[in-house]
Amino acid sequence: MRNFVNLNQLSTQAITSLIVASLAYKNGEKGLPQMTQHVANLFFENSTRTASSFQMAESKLGWSTININPATSSTQKGESLSDTLKTLGAIGVDVVVLRHSINDWYRPLIEEQSPLMPKLVNAGDGNGQHPSQSLLDLMTIYEQFGYFEGLHIRIVGDLSHSRVARSNAEILNRLGATVSFAGPADWYPTDFDQYGNYQAIDEDLNDIDVLMLLRVQHERLAADENQKFSIDEYHEQFGLTHERYNQLKDDAIIMHPAPVNRGVEIADDLVEADKARIFTQMANGVYARMAILSAMIEEKSYDTITN
Ligand code: CP
Repeated sequence: MRNFVNLNQLSTQAITSLIVASLAYKNGEKGLPQMTQHVANLFFENSTRTASSFQMAESKLGWSTININPATSSTQKGESLSDTLKTLGAIGVDVVVLRHSINDWYRPLIEEQSPLMPKLVNAGDGNGQHPSQSLLDLMTIYEQFGYFEGLHIRIVGDLSHSRVARSNAEILNRLGATVSFAGPADWYPTDFDQYGNYQAIDEDLNDIDVLMLLRVQHERLAADENQKFSIDEYHEQFGLTHERYNQLKDDAIIMHPAPVNRGVEIADDLVEADKARIFTQMANGVYARMAILSAMIEEKSYDTITN
């Protein structure tokens, strides 16, 4: 696995290996790779969790980290992403973890044959993919249940702007989960029909194993959409209220990639409720990212389905 840009491009076996490695790191059962690497983190979009947990993962692996602030980098002088990355390769960076608002930013770069191009990790591309979040989500579900086949997973909210929803819908469907979607009709991408049914949030709530809530992405909404958005209406229609929480099965879990709009997607005091795994997801993110980074230098093959 030279680059880690889209979890759905990996075979089911490779994804399973990454989940197992993530849990092994968490449980102290996996040794650190022998070879160390130099990693640069470059986030063109804001991040707390992904950026800091990649840094923590790099530190736990014993690797060196350079954090580059795009606002003070020469991208501001018009330097292309390709030249920025090859510059980092030239100074000895092995891996670049990069987030950008452009969908598929990595595609032309991974096709470049230059030996200067470092290995690339997609830390989020527009509303495309968020593969490291997807892996930590899978890890969290697997840690809870030990399997995916037959689990009912409902993804709720701002589906069309969410790279988390897009990453997870396909992979969870492939792993045998029954996926359903709920949220405002205007934010439902119809191509999600291939992965699961679009339903009312309250339908079969007592049958759901995982309720995965999504952040309302105000930064990706048009100005008029933001203007007419009502917190109270959204929370009542699509949010996790106490009434809905009480309808969930005892062993159901609630997930959210965060940051959470408290009182919008989920009632403020439910963020840390018994069924919530939101902070567990964040903790798991470090181990999932350790597994991703170490897989990039491991000799065993993480075969890709497509590129
Ligand atoms: N879940 C997630 O990607 O959070 P950040 O934007 O804080 O990295």
